[in-house]
Amino acid sequence: MNQSREFDIIIWGASGFTGRLVTLYLFEKYGTTGDLKWAMGGRNLTKLEKVRSEVADKNVPLIIADSNDKVSLLNMVNRTKVICTTVGPYAKYGSNLVEACIKSHIHYCDLAGEVQWMHKMIDRHHEEAKINGSKIVHACGFDSIPSDMGVYFIQREARAKRGIIAQKIKMRVAAISGGISGGTYASLSQVIEEAQKDKMVYKILDNPYALNPINEQFGKDKSDLKNVIFDNVSHSWIGPFIMASINTKVVRRSNFLSSYSYGKKFRYDEAVSFGKGFSGRIKGIISTIIIGLFMSAKYGSLFKKGLDLLFPISGEGPTKKKMEQGFYNLRFYITLEDGSNAFANVTGDMDPGYGSSSKMLAESAVCLAKDKLSNTSGVLTPSVAMGDSLLKRLEKNAGLTFSYK
Ligand SMILES: NC(=O)c1ccc[n+]([C@@H]2O[C@H](COP(=O)([O-])OP(=O)(O)OC[C@H]3O[C@@H](n4cnc5c(N)ncnc54)[C@H](OP(=O)(O)O)[C@@H]3O)[C@@H](O)[C@H]2O)c1
Repeated sequence: MNQSREFDIIIWGASGFTGRLVTLYLFEKYGTTGDLKWAMGGRNLTKLEKVRSEVADKNVPLIIADSNDKVSLLNMVNRTKVICTTVGPYAKYGSNLVEACIKSHIHYCDLAGEVQWMHKMIDRHHEEAKINGSKIVHACGFDSIPSDMGVYFIQREARAKRGIIAQKIKMRVAAISGGISGGTYASLSQVIEEAQKDKMVYKILDNPYALNPINEQFGKDKSDLKNVIFDNVSHSWIGPFIMASINTKVVRRSNFLSSYSYGKKFRYDEAVSFGKGFSGRIKGIISTIIIGLFMSAKYGSLFKKGLDLLFPISGEGPTKKKMEQGFYNLRFYITLEDGSNAFANVTGDMDPGYGSSSKMLAESAVCLAKDKLSNTSGVLTPSVAMGDSLLKRLEKNAGLTFSYK
């Protein structure tokens, strides 16, 4: 990577709901006069100036680039070591930026959870990014850092404590509280629309190993849970977790990219835990019906138009209070290679999508810019790109905890 750049990081999309939170975090945590050189980027100068006056100060430079203007993107990326982007839906606005970052031999991180687009970026750019030394890291938010780094942490602990690896891990969402932004709703809608229009996209979403190369899709994991069942591992009713279709694929890609450091027989799944008894079952059924309705809303239908009215628009999201009161608690039930069991927990101190995701993304960007990382490059996962360095940052700065018993 070219070390003599004007900036360490440019936050592109700083005028959006999540970009603004990332900006606020970097300003409060790293300031503008220290070791970290960073700037805000976007397509609209007036909007950027407004956000800067609200969450930072005039020492933060502003850079203009539009996703449809390749020259402006290249001019922007040539000034920095890392691009941290919150311009989404990524399938709509992200492809030219990834291309520009690789051309400029720099690193990149985002909050993408759009599997069909990540699949496309891997297909198009993994080999070129490898040659150019670029780390292109998708999914640096709630999807999929707690899952990906959680599994990475479990394998590290199992090896250190017992000298063996975990062969099977079941992640159960034990508690979660937060809201949704306009950008996230638009991104989810984008994925569903593409899957409804194109069978190949649906196949990618349904393929547990979709983010691995075709000849590396031999594992035994099936597609994610789609109904409510009683889970003997967590002793509770479980149902579909909407982020599982992203997280599980990212974890499996990490295994592939790390030369199967979790083993070729490794198995992983995710679900939401709704508790024991009749009430747990009913909660699970209601949640599954809601997800089902959302997923089946046909693009352009009256029902979808009605749904759109219920969700925030671009630039809007949960209130500060809701983000501060938010949290998550993820439980990992582990079967080790020798058949013995272990247990791990990952928690976050704010709402998953915004308070916590903005800190995870910002720390990923700082990690890529400042930490001594391995030379691995390509279209990577958070754990493969940043490993122990990111784990340290998440625990020290981003309010995550990782524990293993
Ligand atoms: N994985 C996770 O855990 C997670 C969590 C949070 C968010 N996200 C994802 O992050 C993304 C952003 O969400 P959000 O709610 O922050 O969205 P948002 O408020 O709508 O912000 C979108 C940003 O993109 C910019 N933009 C739109 N079109 C552009 C273009 N042609 N060129 C340059 N910039 C453009 C907007 O600029 P203007 O202000 O000028 O319109 C704005 O800054 C979404 O894809 C969402 O799914 C993921």
